[in-house]
Amino acid sequence: LKWQDPISSAEMYFRKFPEERVPVWTNPCTDPRHQAILPPSYNCSRKSLPDLLILGPQKTGSTALGSFLSLHPNVSQNVPVPGSFEEVQFFGGQNYLKGVQWENLQKLKKKSTKNEQKRRSLATFWRIFTRFRLILCHFLSKNRLKIRSNFRYMSNFPNSTTFTTVVYEKSATYFDNSAAPKQAAALIPRAKLIVILQNPSQRAYSWYQVRHLLAHKDPTVISEGSSLLSILSTNSTTSPMWKIRQRCISGGKYVQHLDKWLEHYSLQQIYFVDADELRNEPAKVLTSITKWLDLPDFPFETHIRFSPSKGFHCRLIDGKTLCLGGSKGRKYDEMDSELREKLNEIFEMDNSALYKFLKKMRLKIPDWLQEAVRGRA
Ligand code: A3P
Repeated sequence: LKWQDPISSAEMYFRKFPEERVPVWTNPCTDPRHQAILPPSYNCSRKSLPDLLILGPQKTGSTALGSFLSLHPNVSQNVPVPGSFEEVQFFGGQNYLKGVQWENLQKLKKKSTKNEQKRRSLATFWRIFTRFRLILCHFLSKNRLKIRSNFRYMSNFPNSTTFTTVVYEKSATYFDNSAAPKQAAALIPRAKLIVILQNPSQRAYSWYQVRHLLAHKDPTVISEGSSLLSILSTNSTTSPMWKIRQRCISGGKYVQHLDKWLEHYSLQQIYFVDADELRNEPAKVLTSITKWLDLPDFPFETHIRFSPSKGFHCRLIDGKTLCLGGSKGRKYDEMDSELREKLNEIFEMDNSALYKFLKKMRLKIPDWLQEAVRGRA
């Protein structure tokens, strides 16, 4: 038997089991032993975890899908997170290390919003008022004013989701993150997942447009002169360009990533959205998703309008057309034929695998995929 101080033995342990360095969070509310040691701020009777994840991938219309889905009165989403396009980016990312209570800390931050400030002032007023009543009662008569012991009633549901039946979280970083499926399934095994199928060539081109736009701010992202064609033609796996190339094409390798999600979730838990259909007929897509989520019908068609100036569908709220910000649905030149050919070649195997997968599972094959497979046959 060998004695070692706790730090050295921990170091030894993690050297032996490096995969255990990152903890795997499970839902503390499902285990009575965990519930017993939870901090009082963690309220298990309230819905504090999402029922639905919109996985992306990036540049497939995931923001539009989330914003349209939120129009439904029985749907709500996470509190917007500043600095990451409002996304929580929990599974498979740095935020995961902050633990399951982290989401609640975000909620505390939200307390600076106007409504929350009003609620807090009201709660403070009640507290002072009730103390005053206590003193008064003590001096006058114990029975003249009945003191309600549950005067904190209002503070019980400041962020309550009582009227919400589906809470979703959209983080476009999840789909192609290898750690995300296992971590998500450990915490929310019964969650439903949405994956948007966009033509990978178009998706890669759209991804490059954003990165290219950022190039003048951060030359390490993509140097200003580099075309997408030159990035894609990089052969050296040790060059920094190779990393950019991989990030650009990764999200379009659908089956490769789906396989990982299907190790932890059943196919019935996943809904596939055709990105072209979402772009052209969002109300129809949203109606089908609503049915799949077992939510009451909602007339999306009267709350979504096409904006000719934006060139995309936008939300119609109180008679005002609200489109997504300038970074979504941008105007740029069409892909030239040489680039399209190169991208189609890169994704040939992946498209063929996706086609076979959807066919085998008797799922709808998007038109762009039919064409891509027919075009290469
Ligand atoms: P572009 O900006 O390259 O046109 P995501 O939100 O997943 O990052 O996807 C962004 C893409 O969503 C946009 O890429 C755009 O093509 C697509 N999109 C689909 N419907 C949209 C909508 N109603 N408004 C804005 N963009 C939409």
